[in-house]
Amino acid sequence: MGELLEVYEASTSASLAQYKATHASSISDVSGYWSELAKSKLTWFAPFSEGLSGSFEEGSVSWFAGGRLNFVGKENETAIIWEGDEPGNVKHISFHELKNEVCKIANALKSAGVTKGDVVTLYMPMVPELCYTMLACARIGAIHSVIFAGFSADAIADRIQDAKSKWVVTASAGSRGGRNLPLKTICDAAVKKDRCVGVVEKVFVFDGKGETGSDWEVQDIHVKMTELVAAQRPVCSCEWMDAEDPLFILYTSGSTGRPKGLVHTTGGYALFAMHTTANSFGLSQQTAASTDGPKDVYACVADAGWITGHTYIVYGPLLNGCSTLMFESTPMYPDCGRYWDMVQRHKITVFYTAPTAIRSLMRFGDEAPNKYDLSSLRVLGTVGEPINPAAWKWYFDVIGKGRCAVVDTYWQTETGGHVITNLPGITPMKPGSCTLPCYGIEVVVLESATGKEIETTEAEGVLAIKQPWPGMARTCLGDHQRYLSVYMKPYPKYYFAGDGCRRDKDGYIWITGRVDDVLNVSGHRIGTAEVESALVAHMAVAQAAVVGLPHEIKGQGICCFTTLTDGHTESDDLIKELRQAVRTQIGPFATPDMIIPTSALPMTRSGKIMRRILRKIAAGELDSLGDTSTLLDPSVVDTLSKKVEQAR
Ligand code: PRX
Repeated sequence: MGELLEVYEASTSASLAQYKATHASSISDVSGYWSELAKSKLTWFAPFSEGLSGSFEEGSVSWFAGGRLNFVGKENETAIIWEGDEPGNVKHISFHELKNEVCKIANALKSAGVTKGDVVTLYMPMVPELCYTMLACARIGAIHSVIFAGFSADAIADRIQDAKSKWVVTASAGSRGGRNLPLKTICDAAVKKDRCVGVVEKVFVFDGKGETGSDWEVQDIHVKMTELVAAQRPVCSCEWMDAEDPLFILYTSGSTGRPKGLVHTTGGYALFAMHTTANSFGLSQQTAASTDGPKDVYACVADAGWITGHTYIVYGPLLNGCSTLMFESTPMYPDCGRYWDMVQRHKITVFYTAPTAIRSLMRFGDEAPNKYDLSSLRVLGTVGEPINPAAWKWYFDVIGKGRCAVVDTYWQTETGGHVITNLPGITPMKPGSCTLPCYGIEVVVLESATGKEIETTEAEGVLAIKQPWPGMARTCLGDHQRYLSVYMKPYPKYYFAGDGCRRDKDGYIWITGRVDDVLNVSGHRIGTAEVESALVAHMAVAQAAVVGLPHEIKGQGICCFTTLTDGHTESDDLIKELRQAVRTQIGPFATPDMIIPTSALPMTRSGKIMRRILRKIAAGELDSLGDTSTLLDPSVVDTLSKKVEQAR
């Protein structure tokens, strides 16, 4: 990914120098900076006594201790614009309606026994009820654990078991891109698994579109949620939460097999979500608290099942009193003009998507976007993976007509919100760079081998954060040691993000990708170990090694090398079966791009699989294999590269 030499100047008078001064003062006293904001932006039932306390090293970071709060919203403005799977199937939901629906669902959950501190698993389509239920949990102090609707029954069961979640909320079915999503059927399969029996007490099922899935009578744990909610009063007092009480957990992939449930807190997360949404998209002047002037129509077209949806569809915009669009469909349905049709119909001003979507739409050329009026757009956002300069330029020129800022927002499930991004109208842009740290975030580049901070502006190493920030995840549910060992111990006194990066002469950050065994496939984070364990669970597989593969649209694809157990031979059918095994254990979004059965993997003499070599073989970069002298049998390189060539 080459760096373009162009720098795109910001278009307003707000200057980079001002940004630098504000940033420097924010990190000189992070506790003071965030405390001031917390006092002015959030409504506190009881004030907090302290800003920041605790440290990375002890894993004891706490923000706004002693403060108590919950979220209180505005009344008549539009809160949610919901765009269903079929274009034009639109609902406008005001803050008043939102509050009523949230209260009714909160009462419904309470009437069934859900109490403060319980984990409620949500496996829902992208319908308003998903957002209502998340907020209903927040209102009564229950902890939501949203599972992306693309996960399989096995993956749901793992997460329910890990979180000991007594409550599950789903819908009879959903639809996406014209296809039926049989969510209740998948959920039923999950809760029937041994590891969930005795854990799950109730499955609340909203009426959804399409088929109802399995028989209602089969299990007495089902609750017809739409009926139960209709019977409730739209008034439910909120639970006053401690700032550090968990708001939600969200599972994400790491280097080892089990996904980890990252815990986000009420006060710190809310402030961070609110502040970064306003700043990164330049919303603050127009929407927060002010009723006059033009309003933003803000659209983040991610899925609420991932952190992007949590922070930038639900909490961030709504806490700012800004309307938020919820999009049920896909960029390709019914055709590749869907996004731009929506921009025209809703007069969207801020549009936020992922590089993979931009690349896949760019393939179809300029005709689709040119058919629509895109003049309402002001800011274009991208998230989830590095954006290649060609895709950046297409987004900037063809969608933004050269007038809009493209904000390249770098962050993670763990960070809760943006930590590095340009600010519209303030930071000059360089295509492919997420540019400079957000206010209150002290980003450093460390030498990967020694952990030494690199002081020179130009630097190459691993990305780390030097001081705590309010939106950071506080622990991994039930496994604080894992939290410490993944994020806090690799480089003591720093938060380690798991990404490599380069800092250029202007101090701009260029993310070079994960330095651990985590893949980024179409912006979805997948641990290679998870795919490997799905493969070795199949009786035909003896060993599996999974690596990333450069992919033009998805950024990375999944390439699996497997040795087979005695009595099994390579065949197309076997490859199909193995592909299916991964879909069943994780979900269709983790479907391998390439499966290469082989009689041997590149091993060191001490019996370790050399993944570095497999990555090169998968990428076809044989001239940069590096040192192969430790290989037990160097001939495997040749054999495997031929197989990869054939499979392409
Ligand atoms: O590798 C980085 C990449 O996505 C990872 C985080 O994935 P996840 O927790 O699923 O959150 C995705 C949505 C925030 C990071 O470690 N990543 C995210 N944003 C960018 C990025 N890489 C480059 N540029 C970005 N803007």
